[in-house]
This record gives sequence, C-alpha cells and structure tokens, in this order.
Amino acid sequence: MSLTSRNILLGVTGSIAAYKIAELIRLLRQQNADVQVVMTASATAFITPLTLQTLSGHAVKTQLLDADSELSMDHIHLARWADSLLIAPASANIIGKLAHGLADDLLSTLYLAATCPVYLAPAMNQAMWHHASVQANVQSLRAHGVRFIGPDCGEQACGDNGLGRMSAPELICASLFPDKLTPPATTLDLTGISVLISAGPTREPIDPVRYISNRSSGKMGYALAQAASQAGARVTLVSGPVNLSPLSNIKIIYVETAAEMFTKVLNEAPHHAIYIGAAAVADYSPAQHTAQKLKKTSTASQLLLTPTQDILAAVAALEPPPFTVGFAAETDNLEDYAKTKLQQKKLNMIAANWVGKKTGGFNSEDNALSVYWQAGQHELPMQPKAQLAHELLVLIHTIFTTPTQSLNT
Ligand code: PMT
Repeated sequence: MSLTSRNILLGVTGSIAAYKIAELIRLLRQQNADVQVVMTASATAFITPLTLQTLSGHAVKTQLLDADSELSMDHIHLARWADSLLIAPASANIIGKLAHGLADDLLSTLYLAATCPVYLAPAMNQAMWHHASVQANVQSLRAHGVRFIGPDCGEQACGDNGLGRMSAPELICASLFPDKLTPPATTLDLTGISVLISAGPTREPIDPVRYISNRSSGKMGYALAQAASQAGARVTLVSGPVNLSPLSNIKIIYVETAAEMFTKVLNEAPHHAIYIGAAAVADYSPAQHTAQKLKKTSTASQLLLTPTQDILAAVAALEPPPFTVGFAAETDNLEDYAKTKLQQKKLNMIAANWVGKKTGGFNSEDNALSVYWQAGQHELPMQPKAQLAHELLVLIHTIFTTPTQSLNT
C-alpha cells in the first residue's frame, strides 16, 4: 500500500544516528509520503541540510527566527500541514525540552503547535537512556500521548552495548504505518537455541457440546514461533485450538484442554532452553463434565469450577528451569499485576499486554507489550504481531545471554 497524501514532518536532532535519516526519507518517499524536514542546529553537524533537502524534495527548515520563515509563520504552517510529526533521531536534549514544554527553536516550537500524532525514535548512549531524568521525561511524554519507537538494543557508536540505538529506518516506517510496510530483515541469531512456545486458548469441556474458553486466536504465539524459527531456533509449539495454518519447520503439538497443555509442555520443557507461555490457559475448568448433553430446565443452574494447574509456574520450578517467559493479559493495573506474576511464578521475564481494548491483545493483528524482568523493563510499541514477536525475541535473547541488563525504558 502507498502512503499517498500522508504529510510527514520529520524532525532531526543531534545524534550520530542522523546519518540513517537519509535512508528513512528514501523509504518514506518510496511509499509516496510527502516529507518535510526540520533540523536542530546540532543535527546539522552530523548530516547536511542539503542532503536531506535533496532527498525530501523540500527546503530543509532550521531556524525559528529566520526572517523569511517568520513572515510565513513556519511553525504554525508546518504544524497544520503535518499528518504525523516524527522526530528521529530524538536526542536526550529534545526529549527533555518537549517534556518540559520548552520552545526555544523551530522543532520544539513545532511540537507545541502540532495537533497530529507525535512519534519519537530516541538515540543516545545506553547510560544516558537509563538516567532517571531521561526516563522521567519519557514517562511524561508517554502520558501526553507521544509514541516511542525503540530505542533498540545492541552495539553503540561509542563502543557501549545496550539500549539506546535508534531503531532501524524500516522499523520506524513500519511503526508509523504498521499495515503498510514489511518488517525489517532479521538480525537476530538463535542458531543452536531451542525454544518451546505455547499458543492459543484452551477449551474446558462442560458436556460433549459445550466448553469454556477465551478470545485468544493464537496469533501472538504463532508469530513468536515463526520469528524464532526464522532466526534459526529449533522451535516446538504447543497449540490450543486455533484457525491458523501449521508453520513449516516447527514441531506443533495440538492440545485442547489446560490439563493436556500442562502435560505436553511439561514433557517438552526439559528439552528446551527457553519457554514462552503465550497461550491463554484457562484458570478454571468445570469440576466434572457430563457424558451426555446437559438438558435445559426452567430453574437456574450452577457450574462448579476447579482451578487448573499453572503451567508457567510448574515450568519455572523445574530443576534446572528453562529461561521462562510468561505473558500477562490484563484489563487494569497492567504493571502491578504483571510484576506480581513475575515474582510469584518465579519467571525470568514477563510480557504484559492490555486486553479488552479496541486494539491489541486478543485476536487483533497488532499488539503492544510492556516487558519486565528482575533488572529492568522495556516498552514494545503497538505494531503488527509478526514484528512485535521479532522485537520480543531480541529482548529475550539479550536478557537470556546477559541477565543483569537493566534496560529500563
Ligand atoms: O492469541 P492472540 O489472539 O494473538 O492473543 C494474544 C494473547 C492476548 C493471548 C497473548 O498476548 C497473551 O497475553 N497470552 C497470555 C494470556 C493469559 O492467559 O494471561 P494470564 O495473565 O491469565 O496468565 C499469565 C501467564 O500464566 C500466561 O503466560 C499464561 O500462559 C500462564 N498460565 C495461566 C494459567 C495456567 N493455568 N497456566 C499458565 O501457564
């Protein structure tokens, strides 16, 4: 699909990642987006306005108090023109200024004047990103509706390794227009690692024709299995009843009930390095199910439910346990409930998602995850499940190999 008639106002700030903006503009224009660029003074030290002007096809704006710009009220003009304001790379400085409502240059003034959705793709040294002040500013902007794309984890220009790299231009495009661009090529290497994943709902029979279940489609778990396999992992998928096609190169074990899923997962877990519990396992099952269909009567009826066994907690209690990643699906108090599950079930990591909202969670094409582990947390923004699965696996692999990483975002 093309981005025809989408006006993207692209703010570029001072970071070595500014060199990637040439490619970002090329990708956006390839999709027919109209891109206008605003650069801060320090951004011009990393890449020239002439380069971005040539690629965008528009004069690059750098000055708030430029005599020509003021005549045409550039900040108001551009803010009204934009369908989306994207700041990439977004330095710690611009994040701080925006969080505090400062407007001392064209880009920060534009942010205040813009009423369109705002996206930030941060780029900075990992220690700077983790700094409490930067994190407080990020939280404050999130609370005002600003959407963050990344940052990513990995080797940095300064030689450090950690969270702070600007996301790849392909990922930034895909986050802006999730249904229009293909996910970036995988750079994740899981060769030699075995991953066990559970997916989909379970069905708890009441009688031969009725059951208790939930709205899980299996898409999240299948996307994880696909992404792990594409990254070279040996993957086993324990799947509840779903309407999804089997995946090639992946061993799939089909189950129906929570009890069956428990048995299959516990059989497989000792042979895998990582377990990811993406299935929506029933917490309760009818205490008994009848061999014959229950008959309708004129009186109220009660169903006695008994708790199912907790698969995730049982896997984490194995000796030795695989690296165990749970999911938390919540309608409220997402962070508190997820962190409680992380502690109580003794997990290595938990990926929390909202359910019951218009987008994300059950049976949706897109999802967003707040990921927590003992030493940190990280937000993965709303995006197609295939891409989100890839990003979650990058994070799992990072913490699996370096458990003390404190990638707070
Ligand atoms: O399948 P989709 O339509 O793509 O939707 C994706 C999803 C919303 C189902 C998925 O992202 C998700 O959140 N999966 C977990 C759903 C869930 O059951 O969450 P929970 O908070 O109730 O359970 C917490 C964790 O315990 C989960 O990892 C679950 O697999 C596990 N669990 C729960 C009960 C049980 N008896 N055994 C378990 O292992």
